[in-house]
Amino acid sequence: MGEQFDLTGKVAVVTGASRGIGRAIAIGLGAAGATVVPTARTTEDIEATAEEVEAAGGTGLAITADVAEEESITNLCEETVAEFGGIDVLVNNAGMNPENALGKPETVDVEGFDQTLAVNLRGAFLCAQTAAEYLQDGEGSVINIASVGGLVGLPRQHPYVASKHGLVGITKSMALDWAPDVRVNAIAPGYVETEFVEEALENESIRESLLNRTPLNRFAAPAEMAGPAVFLASDASSYVTGSCLTVDGGWTAQ
Ligand SMILES: NC(=O)c1ccc[n+]([C@@H]2O[C@H](COP(=O)([O-])OP(=O)(O)OC[C@H]3O[C@@H](n4cnc5c(N)ncnc54)[C@H](OP(=O)(O)O)[C@@H]3O)[C@@H](O)[C@H]2O)c1
Repeated sequence: MGEQFDLTGKVAVVTGASRGIGRAIAIGLGAAGATVVPTARTTEDIEATAEEVEAAGGTGLAITADVAEEESITNLCEETVAEFGGIDVLVNNAGMNPENALGKPETVDVEGFDQTLAVNLRGAFLCAQTAAEYLQDGEGSVINIASVGGLVGLPRQHPYVASKHGLVGITKSMALDWAPDVRVNAIAPGYVETEFVEEALENESIRESLLNRTPLNRFAAPAEMAGPAVFLASDASSYVTGSCLTVDGGWTAQ
């Protein structure tokens, strides 16, 4: 059974791997035997992730890239292929929810709206589009890190919710276009303790109300996103495509 989860010989690109969920997924894929390319804009931090991938038993090579820039994505894919000969797994995890995109609809700054969509949705689409020619070998897997905000509404997070609903949508449409060669799935995490939500979770009343809304009555650790990613990257999920796996402590069950 264990060998179904084995990623030996697979090359995985993980965006947004300088910290948080992306970093944990990169290390998890490495522990399952993958060659991992952690990427983000902060070179020093992705180099640290690459070292942790190696410590976990995989091979790691950091390549700096900004998913909002097409040229940067092209360079990321070309360098990965030049170094390792192909791309088997793409984890679209880079994401943001900037201050100027928060608030009731009437207060959302249109620049914040565009920036959020450019990274969370357009960035993920461009990475998949650019990696496509290398993924088309019958074993490719794209994993889009969505959110519970891709399945249900979240108040005062309209651009973010739009981007994540869009990401769940293109997960399904890409799965249709690329079957049977490439599987495309999403993971929808609930609240995970990372810098992303640090400020909200530091606020006692917000923390309390989010916990009350979560049946498992706690927030996730980033490492709890690694197992689901290994599953979707590996043969263990060979008949799974176009799906969105909720890893949300029960958030969307009610
Ligand atoms: N934490 C949660 O509760 C939660 C819940 C549901 C879904 N998610 C989703 O999970 C993903 C990761 O979130 P997280 O909590 O780990 O957030 P985080 O700690 O803020 O990490 C975000 C990552 O995205 C990278 N990134 C941001 N903009 C980028 C760009 N333009 N190009 C390349 N990389 C970029 C950041 O690296 P650099 O700054 O170095 O570029 C960083 O590595 C996001 O898509 C988020 O929406 C998070």
